[in-house]
Amino acid sequence: MRHVQIGVLGAGMMGERHTRVLRGLPGVHLVGVSDLDRVRGRIVSDRYHVPFVESFEELLGRVDAMVVATPTPLHYEQVRRCLLAGVHVFVEKAITQYVEQGEELEDLARRLGMLLQVGHIERFNPVCIELKKILREHTPVALSFRRLSSFVSSNLAVDVVLDLMIHDVDLAFDFCHGLPITGLHAVGRIVRSREIDHAMAHLAFVGGPMSSFVASRVTEHKVRAIEITATDAFIEADLMHKEIRIHRNISSQYQVSGDNVKYQQRSIIEQVQVPATEPLYLQMLDFVQNLREGRPPTVSAADGVRALRVVREIINQVMANERERSRPPMANVSAPVAFPTVSEHV
Ligand SMILES: NC(=O)c1ccc[n+]([C@@H]2O[C@H](COP(=O)([O-])OP(=O)(O)OC[C@H]3O[C@@H](n4cnc5c(N)ncnc54)[C@H](O)[C@@H]3O)[C@@H](O)[C@H]2O)c1
Repeated sequence: MRHVQIGVLGAGMMGERHTRVLRGLPGVHLVGVSDLDRVRGRIVSDRYHVPFVESFEELLGRVDAMVVATPTPLHYEQVRRCLLAGVHVFVEKAITQYVEQGEELEDLARRLGMLLQVGHIERFNPVCIELKKILREHTPVALSFRRLSSFVSSNLAVDVVLDLMIHDVDLAFDFCHGLPITGLHAVGRIVRSREIDHAMAHLAFVGGPMSSFVASRVTEHKVRAIEITATDAFIEADLMHKEIRIHRNISSQYQVSGDNVKYQQRSIIEQVQVPATEPLYLQMLDFVQNLREGRPPTVSAADGVRALRVVREIINQVMANERERSRPPMANVSAPVAFPTVSEHV
C-alpha cells in the first residue's frame, strides 16, 4: 500500500512533537514542515531531517493529509482551506476558537467526505484508557480534574480554559459516554496575562456524575490529576507519573467494649500498572490507520465542538464574574442613596 503523504503546518512546540512522531510512523511519508517563522521552521526541519516547505499553499498541493499545529485562532481558516483542497486534516485542540467555526468545519468535512480528527490527546493517554476500563466496573458519583502549571509565555494566544481545561472537559464527556450536562457554574481570575489564567468549573452529567475542573497556568507546581469517587471505590490517577490507585473498603465496623466505642475501617489500595507508551504516538498511529482504512475519526469534529461549547460557556461565566468583580464599588450607584429612618430599624 502506498505511504500516506503528510505535512505539518506550524513548527512550534506541538508541531515539533508531531514532526518527531510522524517521521518514525509506519506507512507515513512526512513530506515537509511549514511555518510562517522560517527560522523556527528550519530549526525543526534540520533537527528531524524533514524538508522545510516555504508556503502553506505549496505544502497543501503535495499532501494527502495535513497536521494543523498552529495557534488555535488560525485553525478555522487553515483547516477550511485544507478540506476545500481535498486534504484530510488532523487539527490540534481546540478545533477552533469559536463554536460556530467548529460547526462549520464539521459540516464541511461531512459534505466533502473528508477525515477531520481533533487532537484531544488525553483520549490516547494510557492512564485515561485504563481509567475508562476501570469505570466499566464502577458507578462514578463525582469526577474531579486538576490541570495546573506554572506561568510560561508560550500559548498565551488563548486563555487557560481553552488551552488546558478543554482536555478535561472532553475526557469527562468521554468517561460519561456523551451524557448531556446541566448546572454549569464557573469562576476564574486573570492573574498574569490578559486572559483567564486560573479557572474552576462545576457541572453535572444528567443521569451521571457531578464533575469539577480546575485549570491554572499560574500555579508553581505542575499537576495533572483525576480523582473519581465511585459508589464502592475511590480512584486516583496521576497523568504525569502514569499512576492509578484504587482504594476499596473491605470492612468497617464499630467495636463496643464497655463505654468505649471504636470505629474501625479496613481498606485495600490497588496499584494499577499503566503502559508507558507515548500518547502522541498512539494518537497519530490511530489517525493514520483511520486514514488508510477509511474509518471515521476517533475524536470527531462533533466531539471537538461539544467540548468547545462547554468551554465557551465557562469562559463567558468567568468573564462576566470578572467584570462584576472589577467594577468599582460605587460605579453602579447613580440614584441618591436612601438612608433608612430610625423607625425603619425597629
Ligand atoms: N495536544 C496537546 O497536548 C497540546 C499541547 C499544546 C498545544 N496544543 C495546541 O497546539 C496548537 C499549537 O500550540 P503550540 O503550543 O505548539 O504553539 P506555538 O506557539 O509553540 O507554535 C505555533 C507555531 O505556529 C506558527 N505559525 C503561526 N502562524 C502561522 C501561519 N499562518 N502559518 C504557519 N505557521 C504559523 C508559529 O510561528 C509557531 O511556530 C494550539 O492549537 C494548541 O492549543 C496542543
